Amino acid sequence: MDNRAIGVLDSGIGGLTSAKVLEEILPREDIIYFGDSRRMPYGGHTKEEIREMSVQGAAFLDSFNVKAILLACGTISTNAADMLRDRFKTPFIGVVDAACAAAARVTRTKKIGVIATPPSIASGVYERGLTGCRGDLTVITHACANFAGMVEQGHFRVGDALAEREVGRELKCFLGSGIDTLLLGCTHYPLLSEVIAQYLGAEIRQISAGVEAARALADYLTGRDMLADRAAGRRLWYTSGDPHTFGHTADIFLGHHIVPEQKIL
Ligand code: DGL
Repeated sequence: MDNRAIGVLDSGIGGLTSAKVLEEILPREDIIYFGDSRRMPYGGHTKEEIREMSVQGAAFLDSFNVKAILLACGTISTNAADMLRDRFKTPFIGVVDAACAAAARVTRTKKIGVIATPPSIASGVYERGLTGCRGDLTVITHACANFAGMVEQGHFRVGDALAEREVGRELKCFLGSGIDTLLLGCTHYPLLSEVIAQYLGAEIRQISAGVEAARALADYLTGRDMLADRAAGRRLWYTSGDPHTFGHTADIFLGHHIVPEQKIL
């Protein structure tokens, strides 16, 4: 038993895709969330900048003496997880391994598409993760430079002209490609999943990296007897951006009202 909180780190609201699952499957856990919305998209930064910002976010969460930190961000997981594990004693669970395992498990055509931010795709980490799970996969990757920023600004619903136009422009490369599974390698992207399903077809299985990572964290804590033992967990939400904007999207997405605090690192 371990009653310390779980830290959740993202560049913005994308990590809510993990936080939502954590709230559902680990309701007794305290969760401390930090989304660096002021400096997002991390996908527009250099690897060095991503690593520096990730250290700052991790150090902030670590200052609460958390028992584990969920890197609920593909860009951090692919570009900075190794360094964070070297620098901190706290365990970090990233999104890559769990997402790749899930995608490799469900594909029937053995053709998997991966979309993520440019630094995540450039790292090759998702490709290596998938082919490491199964040697017989064909992996088609595509970087979507504008998706995360667009989602953060609230453009993610069916009927939103910008979201529909961008999804059509970026995902055209998957039409007729034979993929049956699309790995959403950026945690902001599941907010676009209905727009993506409308464009690519509902039969294309979408794997959310943030959702799979939350489940992997639950398994990690369960396997080490590190779950909390209390009636109900508390939540602390921090954003470096505008708390009102963050809270508005979070309320819609999580299905309950949250009051974020602003924290600029
Ligand atoms: N949610 C992020 C990810 O999973 C980051 C997007 C960004 O800030 O560019 O990659």
